[in-house]
Amino acid sequence: MVTTNNPRKILVTSALPYANGSIHLGHLVEYIQTDIWVRFQKMQGHTVHYVCADDTHGTPIMLRAEKEGVTPEALIANVHQEHSLDFAEFLVAFDNYYSTNAPENKELSQGIYNKLKAAGKIATKTIEQYYDPVKNMFLPDRFIKGECPKCHAKDQYGDSCEVCGATYNPTELIDAYSAVSGAAPIRKETEHYFFKLSECEGFLKEWTRSGTLQGEAANKMGEWFESGLNDWDISRDAPYFGFEIPDAPGKYFYVWLDAPIGYMASFKKLCADSGLDFDEYWNKDSSTELYHFIGKDILYFHALFWPATLEYSGYRKPTKIFSHGFLTVNGEKMSKSRGTFITARSYLEHIKNPEYLRYYYAAKLNSSMEDIDLSLDDFVARVNSDLVGKYINIASRTAGFINKRFDGKLLISSTQPSAIQEIKSAAKIIAECYESRDYSKALREIMRLADHANADIAEAAPWVKAKQEGDSAQIELHQDCSSALEMFRLLTLYLKPVLPLLAANVEKFLNISPLSWESVDNSLVTGHQIQQYEHLITRIDPKAIEAMTEANKENLLAAPQVVVPTVAKVAAKTAPDANLAEAEYISIDDFTKVDLRIAKIVNAEHVEGAEKLLKLTLDIGEESTRQVFAGIKSAYDPANLVGRLTVMVANLAPRKMKFGMSEGMVLAASDERGGPFILSPDAGAQLGMRVK
Ligand code: 2FM
Ligand code: ZN
Repeated sequence: MVTTNNPRKILVTSALPYANGSIHLGHLVEYIQTDIWVRFQKMQGHTVHYVCADDTHGTPIMLRAEKEGVTPEALIANVHQEHSLDFAEFLVAFDNYYSTNAPENKELSQGIYNKLKAAGKIATKTIEQYYDPVKNMFLPDRFIKGECPKCHAKDQYGDSCEVCGATYNPTELIDAYSAVSGAAPIRKETEHYFFKLSECEGFLKEWTRSGTLQGEAANKMGEWFESGLNDWDISRDAPYFGFEIPDAPGKYFYVWLDAPIGYMASFKKLCADSGLDFDEYWNKDSSTELYHFIGKDILYFHALFWPATLEYSGYRKPTKIFSHGFLTVNGEKMSKSRGTFITARSYLEHIKNPEYLRYYYAAKLNSSMEDIDLSLDDFVARVNSDLVGKYINIASRTAGFINKRFDGKLLISSTQPSAIQEIKSAAKIIAECYESRDYSKALREIMRLADHANADIAEAAPWVKAKQEGDSAQIELHQDCSSALEMFRLLTLYLKPVLPLLAANVEKFLNISPLSWESVDNSLVTGHQIQQYEHLITRIDPKAIEAMTEANKENLLAAPQVVVPTVAKVAAKTAPDANLAEAEYISIDDFTKVDLRIAKIVNAEHVEGAEKLLKLTLDIGEESTRQVFAGIKSAYDPANLVGRLTVMVANLAPRKMKFGMSEGMVLAASDERGGPFILSPDAGAQLGMRVK
């Protein structure tokens, strides 16, 4: 449905960001995707409410507040302010941005729980959990650390090993310790509350078939049904930052129980503030529409727990759940060492204009769950060529003539160029693309139209006519430039969901009222007065990108370090060996955690008192050189090493050795047949190059 004949009532949500971290470019994919959809629907004349909130409960937030010496309430209040500002500056226009730690949420969560209990869907069970005897608290798996049972890497989390990728139970960790106090955890029994999800399978299968999910998501559901649904543990023991379970002192709702209810709570607050009817949107038979935009990692919560919770507590279910993929930057996971883990704030500080990113994400987004890549070079090229070179170019080449020669007044010819008609008739297809979240297709279509408009202007060549004498050339010039501005108006309308601020500036310049989808049918008329044209947007300077990634490169020496295996282990694990079990391989993600660089040995010397070590000074093209102690004395004369290129691990945690800090590792091969042999790149390799 793309026309305004039948105004719809729509409630839209984006996933609630945790209140213990900053908004980054990965988060923004979702908020920008949702915001574009909401703005488009509003331009269609529908009634749309877009709500969100901070996800504030749980152990990590409680512990972080404690570490910072503040109350959880103070911590989440600060983060709320920070998040709200980031969203506002990226033009993500929530109708309400709330908090899950709000009275509405408490009341709704407890009410829903009571209804689930009355429906016989709550059970209690005594389970055994890890407990920190010093801190007197039960420990989530992520807060238990120890030695990996597979590869014996130290300090691994209780659920998976970051070095070898193995997953396991915390019980399997060797020498487990609490990440909170360092104490050895004990096993302790406790009574937990469960939502009987296993009894909801029939309902969920039915619901899945109703077309609420994308194809890929429905397939995933199929897999989950096949492996069977387990009852869901919805309680946590005190101390816990969250809401207490009614009639269960010391027991709290698990954060994921009250988080999605936060969607309702945020809307409830909006209703109280603006006189909307909460029940109209949430009662079982509501005829309004409800859409949740989420990342594919939280599909399980939204496609299983959430509809089941709503069904058995007597509320309506979502109309559709829209899942998107993850963001990669330059084809890889965002990385602190590469400077591609970029916060919203850092982007704004360096690039300034949020609409570049909105445009680029839109140009990449479609309705699938595929990951999208922010290639920083492509980002610059695309924004500069599409937005500045194609779209803005239409106005910048023509508006000056209207302003200077015709007093800012338009002259519309009775025979309009065919390009205008072509642009107008694309309204339906572009609307369909927005509606189905195929923004990349919408923008391709819009840029194709911009190309036609530019070709039209080139053919009319106003800059030539401007130099010609005689009335008819001047009339043509006046008409051609007026037509160009009409095309610019129409393209602005189509881009408005993506570029709302730019569109508002164009509306001001064209001196027109805010564009809605219906404005396609209007036209600029003869005698219409426009404002003085001023630059609407400038090109991105690639230097700003460079500065941004540099600024985000976490100081490798001070950063929390990735633990990498020793050289011998790297060699063993990457050697092709048909006998290695699948689980023994590292994933490509594990490998990319190791920052391998071509390094130049700029100095090498003996270390007094060290039997095996040489002290190397390595240049990898950073501001300062690295000092590395390498166990290669038995095989190398330091004088022969100076000037030579080798390969180093650049993000190895610095180690304090007896002789000083070692800030990395040089790769060398050895076994019983000889060595060590340090590795050298082929001729042509340059210092600082990345090995991948
Ligand atoms: O995964 C997350 O970041 C969660 N904070 C999302 C919650 S969405 C909703 F269910 F509350
Ligand atoms: Zn391991």
